[in-house]
Amino acid sequence: MTDSSLTALVTGGTGRLGSAVAARLEREGFRVKAAGSRDGDLSSAAAARALVEQTVEELGGLDLLVNGASAGFEPKHVEEVTEEDWDTALGATAKGSFFVTQAAAPYLRRSRNGLVLMIEDVAAYQAWPSFGPHSAAKAAQAMLTRVFARALAPEVRVCGIAPGPVAVEPGQEERRAAETLLGRIGSPDDVAEAVLYLTRARFVTGTTLVVDGGRLLARRGQSAPP
Ligand SMILES: NC(=O)c1ccc[n+]([C@@H]2O[C@H](COP(=O)([O-])OP(=O)(O)OC[C@H]3O[C@@H](n4cnc5c(N)ncnc54)[C@H](OP(=O)(O)O)[C@@H]3O)[C@@H](O)[C@H]2O)c1
Repeated sequence: MTDSSLTALVTGGTGRLGSAVAARLEREGFRVKAAGSRDGDLSSAAAARALVEQTVEELGGLDLLVNGASAGFEPKHVEEVTEEDWDTALGATAKGSFFVTQAAAPYLRRSRNGLVLMIEDVAAYQAWPSFGPHSAAKAAQAMLTRVFARALAPEVRVCGIAPGPVAVEPGQEERRAAETLLGRIGSPDDVAEAVLYLTRARFVTGTTLVVDGGRLLARRGQSAPP
């Protein structure tokens, strides 16, 4: 799937991971729309549809959709979570991933090699009590990976990528490195590499590639949930 005629929409394309993914796809010859919140608030289904239509108008089609937009990654005890926190966490991640993919589906089916990638999180698979809404949003998005894989087959493949600590807050590097089996943090380029792999993995659909340095497998104590 590397050809200068190929087109990609990367939501969250102005963020730390999304900008690295967009740049890597461009280097591989894709024409890319790297969308940020200024291109539409993806917690709105109407904005999600408008973004897809605008992208198709600009690029002339759509072969690859990367759902990377996300907000609300803020630590808060479950007893302090507000309705606004919940809506923020679920908005772009769960609702946005659903409605952007729904709107993109007809164009991806028309592509001879349509692919949707959900940028999930290990939090989809591991309960983090300080990030309740985020974990729930990521679990919902991870289920959408499987739901859309069934719904869009056989024309379109749908996969997830679940990163671990690849773009951590300054000052947290050492602690986050200690949470992994490899004893180090990764980088947004590790995620971009996984995106590239999945664009070429023509027999892979409905599954998630975990890019976490072994974070999910780490022992309790070595890896206390945040
Ligand atoms: N950072 C990590 O180590 C890590 C680890 C595991 C999983 N992830 C996942 O990877 C993805 C990207 O993470 P990141 O660290 O790169 O995040 P980030 O730097 O905070 O970027 C978030 C992106 O989402 C966009 N966005 C936020 N709310 C939006 C909305 N309502 N509508 C449309 N766009 C919206 C932002 O646009 P603006 O720039 O306009 O605000 C930005 O492009 C997320 O799904 C995250 O959960 C990240």
